[in-house]
Amino acid sequence: MELRDVLTYLVWLIASVTFILALKFLASPRTARTGNLLGAAGMALVVAWTFFTTDGMFANWWIVVVGGAIGAVAGWLGAKRVAMTAMPQMVAIFNGAGGGAAALVAVVEFLRDTDLHPGELLPLAFVIATLLGAIIGAVSLTGSIVAFGKLQGLIASRPVKYPGSQIVTAGLFLALIVLGVYLAAVSPSVPLFLLFVVLSLILGVQLVMPIGGADMPVVVSLLNSYTGIAVAATGFVLSNYALLIAGTLVGASGAILTQLMTKAMNRSLFNVLFAGFGTGGDVAAAGEEGEEQLREIGAEDAAVLMAYGKRVIIVPGYGMAVAQAQGPVRELMDLLVAKGVDVQFAIHPVAGRMPGHMNVLLAEANVPYDRLKEMDEINDDFADTDVALVIGANDVVNPAAREEGSPISGMPILNVDQAQKVIVLKRGRGAGFAGIPNPLFSAENTSMLFGDAKPSVEALVQGVKTA
Ligand code: TAP
Repeated sequence: MELRDVLTYLVWLIASVTFILALKFLASPRTARTGNLLGAAGMALVVAWTFFTTDGMFANWWIVVVGGAIGAVAGWLGAKRVAMTAMPQMVAIFNGAGGGAAALVAVVEFLRDTDLHPGELLPLAFVIATLLGAIIGAVSLTGSIVAFGKLQGLIASRPVKYPGSQIVTAGLFLALIVLGVYLAAVSPSVPLFLLFVVLSLILGVQLVMPIGGADMPVVVSLLNSYTGIAVAATGFVLSNYALLIAGTLVGASGAILTQLMTKAMNRSLFNVLFAGFGTGGDVAAAGEEGEEQLREIGAEDAAVLMAYGKRVIIVPGYGMAVAQAQGPVRELMDLLVAKGVDVQFAIHPVAGRMPGHMNVLLAEANVPYDRLKEMDEINDDFADTDVALVIGANDVVNPAAREEGSPISGMPILNVDQAQKVIVLKRGRGAGFAGIPNPLFSAENTSMLFGDAKPSVEALVQGVKTA
């Protein structure tokens, strides 16, 4: 083995270790930045090494440099400018780019090998890996573009279905299997391979269009896992172990994340992909809730209840993210703590619209991590709490989850209703993501403070100051 090969293996090993450590560090908000930097440094090392040591790469340096610069600027600006509520669509589009890159590598490798060995069958392992890279990468690309469009409001967020759409999907799958077998066992025909790629691109659209916009975060996480698998297949085709390991890590972690999200919603992946949940019912449900008599409370009275309580638990939800109320929430916490109140935050695993949504927002506002409590850690404390302050959360505090027959039956929820007093901040009678009524809002111990969460929390801050 030449020295260059030994060093290449060493670089791959170092990079792979940084990727694994990055995942470990990303598990806590405290270490997440370090994890991100470490993973990026490992990736930069492999990219630089590949650039300088791969035949032909340096000769075409300007393509690599210009392409890299365009990608880096787009990534940098996108990440800098994105609002927290728009994070799912940014992840979707970045993920789609990864899937597209994996599919392109598969195409280039297929064309190169058929050119080098005209008329010959390609090695089976190579063809399987190339076809997998092409199909999964292409599905991930177009699926992610559709997910981005739905999240960004560019295309209909409702599930888009047409008569016979399932037959079309089944037909696409069948055609891809037949084409794949033909390409591997009969003839590696270039036009048929290109048809294979085009059908895979159509399949991505066909799979994601029937899913409702609100389920897109789960879909994005699943597509992220697909991209990982496509990249791993690409690593196999290119005999590049760093790509193989990075792809496998992304594939596995995306799959685990998808599973955690569906578990926290008590829904199967099948239900997410095929049920068209959280859509259509919202208006009816909101109307139903409108029939209920809801008790209202003014900001001053709510502030007094909290300021003179011993323990307050704040429950943030999607509405806090929409209102960008995290700054005033932090101020409210500081004032209450200064008055000797024990203040904690109860974080539901799927509060908001993406994993860790609430943690990131509150960290952004410098709420100390040790005040953030996971659901299992804090759920028993509600019974011993003076005030549970619910800020723009709905499904994650809906006691209907404890009843049989509700669309969210069995979903683990925060036991907010067990607090002495519950104060709910929301704009009106709108339903949550699941589109169903929430009996918490009409419970004896609940009072509503209507309005956008930001001005409402600001009013609470004023109230606590004067209490
Ligand atoms: P939701 O159930 O979506 O409820 C949010 C509530 O916030 C709504 O009832 C809305 O009522 C209120 N709201 C919206 N904008 C507001 C504003 N500017 N000011 C004040 N209130 C506002 O949120 P949640 O309790 O956080 O639950 C999350 C849901 O998303 C769960 O069903 C979960 O399964 C689903 N989901 C989560 C994820 C992840 S990973 N987090 C992924 C996919 C799906 P008004 O309109 O009356 O104001």
